[in-house]
Amino acid sequence: MNEPDLKPRGTKESAIMLDCRQLTRTYSEGPQNLTVLDHLDFEVRAGERVAVVGSSGSGKTTLLNLLGGLDRPSGGEVIIGGQSLAGLNEADLGRFRNRYIGFVYQFHHLLAEFTAAENVALPLIVRGQSRKAATQRAMALLERVGMGPRGTHKPGELSGGERQRVAIARALVTDPSLVLMDEPTGNLDQTTAGNILAMMDELAATTECAFVVVTHDLSLAAHQDRMLRLDQGKLSAA
Ligand SMILES: Nc1ncnc2c1ncn2[C@@H]1O[C@H](COP(=O)(O)OP(=O)(O)O)[C@@H](O)[C@H]1O
Ligand SMILES: [Mg+2]
Repeated sequence: MNEPDLKPRGTKESAIMLDCRQLTRTYSEGPQNLTVLDHLDFEVRAGERVAVVGSSGSGKTTLLNLLGGLDRPSGGEVIIGGQSLAGLNEADLGRFRNRYIGFVYQFHHLLAEFTAAENVALPLIVRGQSRKAATQRAMALLERVGMGPRGTHKPGELSGGERQRVAIARALVTDPSLVLMDEPTGNLDQTTAGNILAMMDELAATTECAFVVVTHDLSLAAHQDRMLRLDQGKLSAA
């Protein structure tokens, strides 16, 4: 694709970064249909941080996967920075994700064979940056999440909280417009979770990146600008 000028850079805080219209996801279970997301409409502004809470199985991961273009909706659409994801083929969607979206998975998804620095540098190398430039930037991000001294370590040599911090560095290394986090503090002790909260605060203050954070950790949720509850396929203010 031609490099689209989609990134809502320099936008005012009032700009819509993420727009969901009538977003629907139905899973077919044999003869049964399970509607997990039922015609959701919501918006997230540039620089805004939104928490989505909901019980286990309410559809939080399904929602994030749709927002991040990892899954296609059964109905409705996701628009990021004015670009409808429905309008992109798989290759363009991959490029779009690499350029505009940072994703922190529930289970870090770091590549075991690569060091922390290599894991963080990878999205930049995929994008065509030189290994040297990508590694420099990766190290800067690792410093930022307090993992600078661990750049040469592989995921297997890191604790759960450390891996999650590396995963957060990887999500942010491309300077995304939208960061999606699935239970970023799940399975972390309180101190580590607190460190991650502080880091998110700092990022929200210093970038205009929008965040959607899925969690059942109410202290993390209360820390965001706005809280939405996902229940029975619907989102409501919580
Ligand atoms: N690929 C799939 N196929 C069928 N059902 C699924 C699939 N993924 C998730 N589900 C179902 O959708 C519901 C929501 O799942 P999920 O989005 O993972 O919830 P949460 O992240 O809130 O725990 C659950 O009932 C789950 O079993
Ligand atoms: Mg989940």
